[in-house]
Amino acid sequence: MNNSDSYLNQEIKPIICVVGARPNFMKMAPILRAFSNIATEWPVLLVHTGQHYDSAMSDQLFEDLHLPVPDINLEVGSASHAVQTAEVMKRFEPVLDQHHPSCVVVVGDVNSTLACALVANKKGIPVAHVEAGLRSNDRAMPEEINRILTDQLSMRLYTTERSAAANLNREGVSDQNIKFVGNVMIDSLRENIKYAKPYLSTVQAHEPAAVKIFREGKEYGLVTLHRPSNVDDPEILKTLLTTLGKVASQIPLIFALHPRTKNNIEKFKLLSLIDPGNTVLLPPQGYVEMLGLMKDAAVVLTDSGGIQEETTALGVPCLTLRENTERPITIDEGTNILVGSDSDLLLYEINNILNGSGKKGRVPELWDGNAAIRIVEDLRSHFFNKSATF
Ligand code: UD1
Repeated sequence: MNNSDSYLNQEIKPIICVVGARPNFMKMAPILRAFSNIATEWPVLLVHTGQHYDSAMSDQLFEDLHLPVPDINLEVGSASHAVQTAEVMKRFEPVLDQHHPSCVVVVGDVNSTLACALVANKKGIPVAHVEAGLRSNDRAMPEEINRILTDQLSMRLYTTERSAAANLNREGVSDQNIKFVGNVMIDSLRENIKYAKPYLSTVQAHEPAAVKIFREGKEYGLVTLHRPSNVDDPEILKTLLTTLGKVASQIPLIFALHPRTKNNIEKFKLLSLIDPGNTVLLPPQGYVEMLGLMKDAAVVLTDSGGIQEETTALGVPCLTLRENTERPITIDEGTNILVGSDSDLLLYEINNILNGSGKKGRVPELWDGNAAIRIVEDLRSHFFNKSATF
């Protein structure tokens, strides 16, 4: 963002913004835009840990979201949780030693989020966490541990829904450090929905022969699955694909495959469970392609956190293939329904949606496209050219 080291001569401490994995990029893009619109005096350094590195998982999204080339790429790549987290920590520490930021901003709940928060905290540098306080109350989920620990390490905690403050209070976080700002992921959605790619052109680009299944005006369902709890166990993945086969016999499906899911379908030899007559498999999609696929879907079936929120913002019915969600507002106010691993419930809800009697929702409070501006104003008032106040 700020390629020169000119701030080193001006005694203005920079702020470091961290991204690592796909769901971080759409959260950070509006924050960086807000910095360049309303806080130009503050040098910003963008650090990419390299947790996600494929063109489809990273570069394409940078392009779609108009994210600047990162100032620093730690290039950690894939590894076990311990090794990945440790590598980010080892490589992030010298960045802090070199640049002495007044604050480190982390988003979401991936391994890179926790790793960078921990390094900064240990060096006495304040951490600000965007999307704080979300809890699934399922500690078997790697992201839940990342959320709890990152929040404990953070000095400013920006929340997307009001329930998050109560979660933080229960864990001893004071209200003084919490600010309800709304949802930066929805800032990105609102900014980019006008560029959403028509779903047929996305299908055409990858599977021209499949276009006839999804011809104009025909309803379709969109599927994304990547949680280890759904895709790492051969029996669970087999059951899920069998259920999706039953759904596909009612409504054709577009299945955007995460690399983890693709690898496991191949490794467990489950490809034969997917009928090419009613299901099209796509590689990981760019941001504007995904917006187009979601926007026009009759229903979205997912285990993603962000997609639960995006479908709520778009008013598209969402069935979440998990037993819990850390984003309860998508259930209480939005279009989301948890179906867990209950295939009868899933088929029942699909029927409701196809009959027009599916759940309707409303857009939650402060999901208005201005969350990033609130965050940057708050960051400026707390950390611009200040030393840590531990
Ligand atoms: C990570 C996040 C998860 C987030 C998801 C979005 C953690 C603990 N998990 O899960 O919260 O919802 O990103 O995608 O941080 N791979 C590639 N190319 C890449 C990146 C990964 O092929 O660019 C493959 C590798 O085989 C890798 C596997 O995907 O081992 C998993 O990647 P990893 O970053 O460990 O976790 P995700 O499942 O992507």
